[in-house]
Amino acid sequence: MNNTKSFFIKSFGCQMNVYDSDKMKDIFISHGLSPTDDYQAADYIVLNTCHIREKATEKTYSDLGRVHKKGKTDHKIIVAGCVAQAEGDLIQLRAPYVDLVLGPQSLQLLDTYLSGPNPHLKTITEFDAIDKFDTLKRFKTNNHSKSSFVTIQEGCDKFCTFCVVPYTRGSEYSRSIPEIIEEIKKLIDQGVIEVTLLGQNVNAYHGPDETGKERGLSYLINKISELDSIKRIAYSTSHPNNMTDDLIELHGNNTKLMSCLHLPVQSGSNKILKLMNRKHTRELYFEIIEKLRKHKTNIALSSDFIVGFPGEDEKDFTDTIDLINQVGFMNSFSFKYSPRPGTPAADKKQLPLKVQEDRLKIMQTLLNQQEIDFNKKFLSKRVEVLISSSGKYKGQVKGKSEFNQSVAIPGNPNIIGNIVSVQITDISVHSLIGKAEI
Ligand code: SAH
Ligand code: SF4
Ligand code: F3S
Repeated sequence: MNNTKSFFIKSFGCQMNVYDSDKMKDIFISHGLSPTDDYQAADYIVLNTCHIREKATEKTYSDLGRVHKKGKTDHKIIVAGCVAQAEGDLIQLRAPYVDLVLGPQSLQLLDTYLSGPNPHLKTITEFDAIDKFDTLKRFKTNNHSKSSFVTIQEGCDKFCTFCVVPYTRGSEYSRSIPEIIEEIKKLIDQGVIEVTLLGQNVNAYHGPDETGKERGLSYLINKISELDSIKRIAYSTSHPNNMTDDLIELHGNNTKLMSCLHLPVQSGSNKILKLMNRKHTRELYFEIIEKLRKHKTNIALSSDFIVGFPGEDEKDFTDTIDLINQVGFMNSFSFKYSPRPGTPAADKKQLPLKVQEDRLKIMQTLLNQQEIDFNKKFLSKRVEVLISSSGKYKGQVKGKSEFNQSVAIPGNPNIIGNIVSVQITDISVHSLIGKAEI
């Protein structure tokens, strides 16, 4: 009989949580535990949570209820991530069976927790990004994919009036360049050829190089490009105010940088942008897009939008639709505004739900159409695809194009991990179908 203890991790929210979940996985494995996809059989169940919208937070509690009811009785339940940070002790009041609450800057303490039962480790929500990364680098990475996330920056100092991130992730912190390069070299040893650099405000990156001199994101990307084994680099998520000219130019002259950029604008109305405390205008956004396209004509753009923000009238909404029409996006995320406790906009007069829903529907119809139009342009064309896994159907494999589109092709799993040239034969709304060119 196998006596190895097992763990199950479910990740909610953004890519930074996925990165943190991978790090927790490394810690569990270093303690001799093995991963399982079956939470009912797991000895440790971790929910790595997201607090960004009310729905995301409520999902934590409904999942906790399910895990508690159906799981074994001798398991440990751990709540990590942004709900852990925002709600702290409240979690154990609502769900007393939770064994440990770990904020995103304290997840390294999972190691201490697993080293022996410690009654003091109940709710830990310290902000200590330096200790986090210092501790995490001791653990062997268990990445079996060709593509990996690397968090290079944590936290946010921008305080948009709708957003919880500055409260859940703390203030901005950039990791040093030598430390990032060391982590990427370890990933290369595991076979990684593509990295996505992560930060809540990734283009605000300003970490020290080996001499202690502060450097920006474009310098870091160039340094990473010098590593032969790395074939592709992407970064996410950016803020318009930190799209510096050197970074924009890099899109034209660094061939390893993917041909896409996620640049959230949130609204196309200057009045709403001001109420959101975004500190940029629609004109600045247009200016950035124009410069980007000058340096990289075929760059594919995606964005995030919030509809129904307090104070948004028909004219403001029309301004956002106009911005979407003028820019033309490859794909985007759009959300109804969700008031978050403790953020300034939550106390303002809220729009009726019906108005929010109607506007969201109009926006999503337009964004979907733009995605279809974007993908249609690829019919009969050739794209480079990093094949990363088996496809939905037998005999199929899939991966991402250099524009970050999902592409499926008939193929043998032994080509997983290769970048192949693919001829596109068919499209659907969210993905492309093709065949490998020999
Ligand atoms: N750092 C990123 C955003 C991270 S949160 C940036 O500055 O763009 C991801 C997205 O969630 C945001 O871009 C925003 O569109 C959405 N979001 C954040 N708070 C929200 C809220 N209270 N209601 C609805 N959507 C929200
Ligand atoms: Fe949130 Fe604004 Fe910071 Fe993005 S820039 S994480 S939206 S506060
Ligand atoms: Fe959610 Fe936290 Fe990311 S609130 S979006 S998991 S930074």
